[in-house]
Amino acid sequence: MRVSQPATVVDVHLRAAEAAAALRADVRSGLTASPKTLPPKWFYDDRGSALFEEITRLDEYYPTRCERQILDVHGDDIAAATNADTLVELGSGTSEKTRLLLDALQRRGTLARFVPFDVSERTLRDAAEAIRVEYPGIAVHAVVGDFERHLGALPRGGRRCIAFLGGTVGNLLPDQRARFLAAIATGLGPADSFLLGVDLVKDVDRLERAYDDRAGVTAAFNRNVLHVINRELGADFEPDRFDHVARFDPDAEWIEMRLRATMPMTVRIAEVGLEVAFATGEELRTEVSAKFRRAGLTDELTAAGLELRGWWTDPAGDFAVSLSGPAGRP
Ligand SMILES: C[S@@+](CC[C@H](N)C(=O)[O-])C[C@H]1O[C@@H](n2cnc3c(N)ncnc32)[C@H](O)[C@@H]1O
Repeated sequence: MRVSQPATVVDVHLRAAEAAAALRADVRSGLTASPKTLPPKWFYDDRGSALFEEITRLDEYYPTRCERQILDVHGDDIAAATNADTLVELGSGTSEKTRLLLDALQRRGTLARFVPFDVSERTLRDAAEAIRVEYPGIAVHAVVGDFERHLGALPRGGRRCIAFLGGTVGNLLPDQRARFLAAIATGLGPADSFLLGVDLVKDVDRLERAYDDRAGVTAAFNRNVLHVINRELGADFEPDRFDHVARFDPDAEWIEMRLRATMPMTVRIAEVGLEVAFATGEELRTEVSAKFRRAGLTDELTAAGLELRGWWTDPAGDFAVSLSGPAGRP
């Protein structure tokens, strides 16, 4: 007998017009600031998402391998600690490693629903559909949104484990991160939990190589934000006139990715009515990627109203997955 499967539900909280308005606002404020900056979420059009997938397979990029190892070895411990019937995943991308968590929750017999959430609609829809086919019998409810603005739109009910993997939390600046963690804490029900993957502080050389690979994939990913602005806002950036730079800042304990102008130029951004001058050597910061220590992260979680309940690392201690819940509840 053929059992018909429910279709994937997709909620769109970030429509194309709204995303375009947000990009215009970020480009206007970031490119008129000194130093110039852009938020990393604009890397992730279809090409940017595909380039990120390629990055995750590079030798130099240890975070994905380490986090996968943690989820593989400790998936059942995480499933037991959360007892979740709903796995929510923020910044889910292709949800590749997430299958290890889905498998563990299925082995435990609790899994009923998967909720991937991402700003990149096409990648999200493809991933949600692939998981619907691979995991018959669970509901897949995808949400297109910005995790800095639309957490309130997450489906509620049941025992939810909200996973935020890949070290993406490190892309938020400290004040943004504090607001984000507080919003997570506010939205958690008493039986919910928050699973957070973070990259740990380590040897500077390894850190910088992870963001500046020999094949130049991360450089292409970095320049992709200029292609996005050209396409979406009618700009005339020449991406090849910018060098890719990745440096560890030992005070802030984060990697900064920047694009450095190799010659003086003026860029026109038609849809924002903006002309932006770059001097030779001038840098545009496109991403920070904070690296964490257990004590510092515990303090940040506590300040947000969360209580650390689990901490797993790979054997080398390169990457950590933490589990927390609403403070003061069992
Ligand atoms: C570093 S990748 C990590 C992907 C995947 N979670 C992993 O661990 O490999 C970041 C993901 O977060 C998404 N993203 C970035 N900023 C976002 C935002 N503000 N709201 C929602 N998704 C966002 C990107 O589209 C991308 O899929």
